[in-house]
Amino acid sequence: MTKVYADNAATTYPKPEEVGLSLLNYITKIGTNVSRGTYEQSYSTARVVFETRELLCEFFNFREPLNVVFTSNITESLNIIIKGFLQNRDHVIVSSMEHNAVVRPLHSMSKLGVNFTIVPCDEEGKLAPKAVEKAITKNTRLILINHVSNVCGTKQDIFEISKICKRHNIHFVIDSAQSAGLLPIDFQFLNLSALPFTGHKGLMGPQGIGGILLNESFAKSIKPFKEGGTGSFSEQEIQPEIMPDKFESGTLNLPGIFGLNAGIKYIKKVGLSTIYEHEHFLGKLFLNNILNIGGIQLHGIKEMEGRTSVFSISFDKLDSAEAAFILDRDYGIMTRSGIHCSPLAHKTLGTFPQGTVRFSFGYFNTKEDIDYISKALHDMVKNQK
Ligand SMILES: Cc1ncc(COP(=O)(O)O)c(C=O)c1O
Repeated sequence: MTKVYADNAATTYPKPEEVGLSLLNYITKIGTNVSRGTYEQSYSTARVVFETRELLCEFFNFREPLNVVFTSNITESLNIIIKGFLQNRDHVIVSSMEHNAVVRPLHSMSKLGVNFTIVPCDEEGKLAPKAVEKAITKNTRLILINHVSNVCGTKQDIFEISKICKRHNIHFVIDSAQSAGLLPIDFQFLNLSALPFTGHKGLMGPQGIGGILLNESFAKSIKPFKEGGTGSFSEQEIQPEIMPDKFESGTLNLPGIFGLNAGIKYIKKVGLSTIYEHEHFLGKLFLNNILNIGGIQLHGIKEMEGRTSVFSISFDKLDSAEAAFILDRDYGIMTRSGIHCSPLAHKTLGTFPQGTVRFSFGYFNTKEDIDYISKALHDMVKNQK
């Protein structure tokens, strides 16, 4: 049976061949730790780790490679920021399109006296920057906004929000899980305090690698929740303050870093705009093909302007889990159904608690994939009648 992968918002697949080869090279030919060995092979691993920090700096227009911290994914990065920075009585502003990677740590911090405001987005998931400004209180210390929705692909106007943060002298952080590797993100231009990212989606790396780019003064005001061996200052019993060691206790995910290194080099080679244009083309085709199918509803923005190629649909006569099951069983089409770890977003779109079927396209999807999916949807709706 034909197989079509349409779950790139969960993780991109396939990865570029270079990424696999880089992992294989590390595992079979290099394999050494960093900052723990006094031999050349360990130094050569360290050079690749440092080069990856530099690649991330160049990619996101950030200046300080030593303030690039590696984590296991953006969930860990967001937890470091939310739990390490916020204190009793601090106020945070988020949108109603946030992922649980933001919402759950915030609820947990609210038990420690942190307050947060969820600014409602409209029924297409769009946030009005003015509403963000209105929500600012004298205790607001952080504005954290999902750049692109993992449920329906809606993009937020992060530049306008960055200007508000600058005007009010409030830290600005974006959740880049669905935008890094697809849209240009300029750390300096957006005046970010931190940029958490995940390596296995648009950045085309393997699972289990992510990180944060941290502005110097913001990094100083975060307490790490993980402490331990860093391979540096080993004579000290307390956690070093120097970056990135402050946040990088324990052996790094070195295969992950090698894979991410190759993923970013691949994006550089192909060009971010080429990736964007291809995904945009696929999204436009999908919209044209499905908007006129009776019996299914598209949630979110109905044109490509203001969105990416992540689509949520529901069927008039089929539950979303059942529809995703049929798509896989009868057509070999891989999607994700349900709430997508974003109950807030589904409440905003009016699709809670039933959820939706999500189709998310990536650089390796083709026009034929979209035609095949569109035909399958037509077929399914016909069979429901
Ligand atoms: C918007 C958003 N934030 C955070 C995450 C969490 O990503 P990870 O599982 O890589 O930590 C995801 C994952 O789908 C996401 O889409």
